Amino acid sequence: MNYNLLKDKTVLVTGGAGFIGSNLCETLLNYNVKVVCLDNFATGKRENIAPFLKNKQFQLIEGDIRNLEDCHTACKNVDFILHQAALGSVPRSIKDPITTNDVNISGFLNMLVAARDAKVKRFVYAASSSTYGDHQALPKIEEIIGKPLSPYAITKYVNELYADIFYKTYQLDTVGLRYFNVFGKRQDPNGAYAAVIPLFVKQFINHESPVINGDGSYSRDFTYIDNVIQMNIKAITTANKDALNTVYNVAYGERTTLLELATILKTYLSEFDPAIKEIEIKHRDNRIGDIPHSLASIEKAKQLLNYNPKFSITNGLKAAVSWYWENLQVS
Ligand SMILES: NC(=O)c1ccc[n+]([C@@H]2O[C@H](COP(=O)([O-])OP(=O)(O)OC[C@H]3O[C@@H](n4cnc5c(N)ncnc54)[C@H](O)[C@@H]3O)[C@@H](O)[C@H]2O)c1
Repeated sequence: MNYNLLKDKTVLVTGGAGFIGSNLCETLLNYNVKVVCLDNFATGKRENIAPFLKNKQFQLIEGDIRNLEDCHTACKNVDFILHQAALGSVPRSIKDPITTNDVNISGFLNMLVAARDAKVKRFVYAASSSTYGDHQALPKIEEIIGKPLSPYAITKYVNELYADIFYKTYQLDTVGLRYFNVFGKRQDPNGAYAAVIPLFVKQFINHESPVINGDGSYSRDFTYIDNVIQMNIKAITTANKDALNTVYNVAYGERTTLLELATILKTYLSEFDPAIKEIEIKHRDNRIGDIPHSLASIEKAKQLLNYNPKFSITNGLKAAVSWYWENLQVS
């Protein structure tokens, strides 16, 4: 990837203290790019960005995207935006749709307005595979979506609609990245809304049985963080005008069932602790609203952005498991 194109540029990463945001900040700083991080630590963690604070290329702005003034401050002298700040999790949005709406829609709109006013060159944002909603066909292709199945999915779809209108009305260049089940280092294993991979890893390390919703045949296109970083960098650096003002699936393009996932994690973790081999994988009823299968077509990203995901699910899981083994605090 050509990081030279980002020389002397400033990139604003909103939600930079979160899982995906902190990985984006880290990569950009490794290439000596100036990074501004806007975060209110709603779900992000100070320890995720602690190592960056001594880097002169890194600036932290503690603020809230629901506050337009904070967004204007963060966008000052910024060339590109990687907008990650949002409240994730479908169950969280079902429990508290109002806060999810405020952050994910009003906050998103504030960021678009601030980006427009600051004349940023490109606004790349975290969209979501949840936008495919109740559409059954596989693999998912960008142009065909169904009806949203949760308040969270609505917010992510509205983001796409607003981004499109900001291009058409104000000529703000945008790129939406529909992430599919991202995993990797620093993804939070704790709390009621933990994602399945860090949750299962934590449970195996603590010698607890992971519990699969349903018989384990449901499948997802799990995507390693490095592939997601590649797409973000390609989206801000591409010179291909046809690649802008649209949305992309960000995935590896392969399906893994939940049972396969748990079994792979168990095998990899057993290499660190042989007792993990004996842990039983348990099951309970399917969760209402969960779609059975998810699989992305990544052809559009390959064609227009030259996307070339380097990490397969197994290579990604190996890397993630090693990181958790080194870093996970038993809780
Ligand atoms: N992780 C995935 O699999 C996945 C899948 C699809 C989409 N996404 C999207 O990717 C983005 C990043 O997700 P993540 O997994 O890193 O989640 P995360 O919770 O780790 O990161 C989100 C960050 O946004 C910050 N934030 C939340 N509300 C804020 C506010 N009002 N003002 C400022 N900052 C705020 C949080 O403190 C946190 O640091 C989100 O937009 C999410 O919806 C993630």
